Amino acid sequence: LAENATLTVHADKPGAVINKYIYGQFSEHLGTGIYGGIYVGKDSKIPNTRGMRNDVIAALKDLHVPLVRWPGGCFADEYHWRDGIGPKRVTRINTNWGGVPDPNTFGTHEFFDFVELIGADAYVNANMGTGTAAEAAQWLEYMTGDQDTTLVQERKANGRDKPFKVSIYALGNETWGCGGNMRGEYYADQYNQWATFMKTAQKPGPLMLASGDRSGEAIDFTKALMANRRAPMDGISLHYYTTLGKWEDKDSALGFNESGWITTLSQTLKMDGFIKNHDDVMTEAEKKTAAEGGHKNKVGLYIDEWGTWYKPEPGSNPGFLVQQNTIRDALVAAANLNIFHKHADRVTMTSIAQTINVLQAMILTDGPKMVKTPTYWAFYMYKPFQDATSLPVDIKSGTYSYGGVTIPQVSASAAKAKDGSIVIGLANLDPHKPASIAAALDGVKGTVVSGQILTGDAMDAHNSFEKPDVVHPVAFTGASLSGGKLTATLPAKSVVVLTIK
Ligand code: AHR
Repeated sequence: LAENATLTVHADKPGAVINKYIYGQFSEHLGTGIYGGIYVGKDSKIPNTRGMRNDVIAALKDLHVPLVRWPGGCFADEYHWRDGIGPKRVTRINTNWGGVPDPNTFGTHEFFDFVELIGADAYVNANMGTGTAAEAAQWLEYMTGDQDTTLVQERKANGRDKPFKVSIYALGNETWGCGGNMRGEYYADQYNQWATFMKTAQKPGPLMLASGDRSGEAIDFTKALMANRRAPMDGISLHYYTTLGKWEDKDSALGFNESGWITTLSQTLKMDGFIKNHDDVMTEAEKKTAAEGGHKNKVGLYIDEWGTWYKPEPGSNPGFLVQQNTIRDALVAAANLNIFHKHADRVTMTSIAQTINVLQAMILTDGPKMVKTPTYWAFYMYKPFQDATSLPVDIKSGTYSYGGVTIPQVSASAAKAKDGSIVIGLANLDPHKPASIAAALDGVKGTVVSGQILTGDAMDAHNSFEKPDVVHPVAFTGASLSGGKLTATLPAKSVVVLTIK
């Protein structure tokens, strides 16, 4: 019987380390992403730790979330950090998301409390849109200062003695759009000016992130930023959301048809080409800058917003971006993670949008109820890839077609995990047919294969508050390893992670 995909996994040619920050999460002040989803306040009946819900903390800790991006998104460019510190908080309208009041009870201290509770690092996005360089610099001093300055005294008076650790500091968000409708060249100048003044006692300082291109083929911000690198720049962001094609063209999260299935997957697979385009431009520019005696560091491509963007759930506030999450989303997650692993030398950070109750979420909550989504489980199964060494995979996959759209049936990536085992992530994107795979394992010493599988009965199989365990991982017994050759049969619409020891 012919295989649907043949693979060669090259443990003999290890690639870059898969930075654990590729598994980052984005949490914006948007709908119930923060209020209700993470923060319920100390006096809530929902069990909490200093206002942070315990069920969500436990679920995210278990997921080994390495990094959280906050406070936005578009929200970041109207966020004034002083509104969210101290005993008296300032209520403002969240003009981007639903036009509802934000009480700012979740501010800097609460954010750091949250990330420390789940064991994650902090990515803070500063306000360039309506803020000033002074405001951003003072926020950084407030968070990271270690000397006896007035800002550090204020932080201490607000309950935090030792500095917070800022792992990534970004200047602006989507500066081509909601962050100020700028041109790439103008923003590059702004970035250089601001980044010059982001001084900190923290050692090493935060990774400095410039706001990059919009979804799709756009590449003007990456070009402008790379050509005008004057101040330190560790990363440039890229945002790409999976829709049905055009921005206005959004599918339903549930009850979609096969055309919606394949189009969503075909659109998500475009991520590979987008990364390649940016990588090419960045590599060229880096060579040029180094030859001219400029900055020599390799700039990371930080895909700090990605995932599916569907129509809002019927009956929900459209500004809150609430959507259900199905096995299709788990496949989107696995396919993108496979792409990120392949580009681990350039893509050193990503944050899926967004952690809770917003867009392609890990977790949905409703009052005291909480449910883990299929995307949560895909991330869960892929945990061994965090900080593993990427292994090149040559793949010849058969195709899956519907309605004039054709995509590869199988998506794959491999790595050598920190414990020395080999992990292979696989996704069968065909909703009807199983995929038989055969893999040659060059340089792999292990002889025992085990695995986990995530699948569902229907294209829109999902977990609800009433039925929270419809889609969850179980042991996978469909793989065998003999004479250095791995064979497996992946059921239709499944994510499988194999471990070879
Ligand atoms: O994630 C939702 C929004 O999408 C973010 O606020 C913005 O940056 C992007 O347009």
